[in-house]
Amino acid sequence: MKITVVGSGNVGATAAQRIVDKELANEVVLVDIIEGVPQGKGLDMYESAPIEGTDTRVIGSNGYDETAGSDIVIITAGIARKPGMTREQLQETNAGIVKDVTEKVAAKSPKAILIVVSNPLDVMTYVAYKASGFDRHRVIGMAGVLDTARYRTFIAMELGVSVEDIQALVLGGHGDSMVPLVRYTTIAGVPLSAFTDQATIDKLVTRTRNGGIEIVNFLKTGSAYYAPSAAAVEMAEAIVKDKKRILPCAAYCQGEYGLNDTYIGVPVKLGKKGMEQIVEVPLTDEEKAALHKSANEVKANIAKLKL
Ligand code: NAI
Ligand code: 2OP
Repeated sequence: MKITVVGSGNVGATAAQRIVDKELANEVVLVDIIEGVPQGKGLDMYESAPIEGTDTRVIGSNGYDETAGSDIVIITAGIARKPGMTREQLQETNAGIVKDVTEKVAAKSPKAILIVVSNPLDVMTYVAYKASGFDRHRVIGMAGVLDTARYRTFIAMELGVSVEDIQALVLGGHGDSMVPLVRYTTIAGVPLSAFTDQATIDKLVTRTRNGGIEIVNFLKTGSAYYAPSAAAVEMAEAIVKDKKRILPCAAYCQGEYGLNDTYIGVPVKLGKKGMEQIVEVPLTDEEKAALHKSANEVKANIAKLKL
């Protein structure tokens, strides 16, 4: 198992470190355009392996030769949000970067599964899908796992229960129009509505929608990376171990949920073939309308790129 992480900044380097700590691969290749950064971070990480007790080798590079034959490639290259910036304001710059790195990655690793992280997530995953020419099963975006993790954390904080017992799904685009499915949110199998009132649930949903900017406003110089890297690596782990996890991910819809030709957050089965199935859960008319509204926003942003 060989995993490449493109972009050795906050999310990329932390994701690589998590892969090493979990020994999910024999080899991790870190790539970045900044000379010395992937090499330095990669060597530093490799030197943590004896302490962590893992045999994952880490190398850093400014090119793609070393990435050849990767099984999984996590794409985190691009610019991140600063206070006052929306994810959409990253679109023009990051589309060029994601297209470029995807073409280079795909040329060296034609059988890889791509996990896209760069923002705006749903649009960048579409860019990677087009630039790679890969089948839709091998190009997936990370956002729903993060948004769901934030939602679960806020519920746990509010109710004083373990995060482990909270099951939830946040669908839709990675932005203000995301769709937390309150009806399917349970604590040890019991609906959330049995634990708290509607006003509190509304507050938790709003905080989830604003989860990204809450961290940006604290950090001021960039955006979140501990939870995002954990989310990307959870997806990678499901693929490496062929776990058949059902996780909310950005997937290319071909009729599922009545959606076509767009990436959007939906529940997917993740295994060794990548996105093995889009799982269609029954939605109310209201939930379906919210998902379609979110997908239409993503489509409008894709259209701006004139791909
Ligand atoms: P960062 O600025 O710490 O790291 C980005 C890295 O990409 C930098 O080291 C930069 O040199 C590198 N880079 C830029 N152009 C490149 C190129 N052409 N080839 C290779 N490397 C290149 O940013 P951070 O915090 O790691 O975020 C990365 C991206 O992930 C951002 O677009 C951010 O918005 C997005 N993100 C998405 C999340 C999601 O839920 N999908 C969550 C968190 C971040
Ligand atoms: C986040 O949600 C910025 O998309 C990034 O933290």
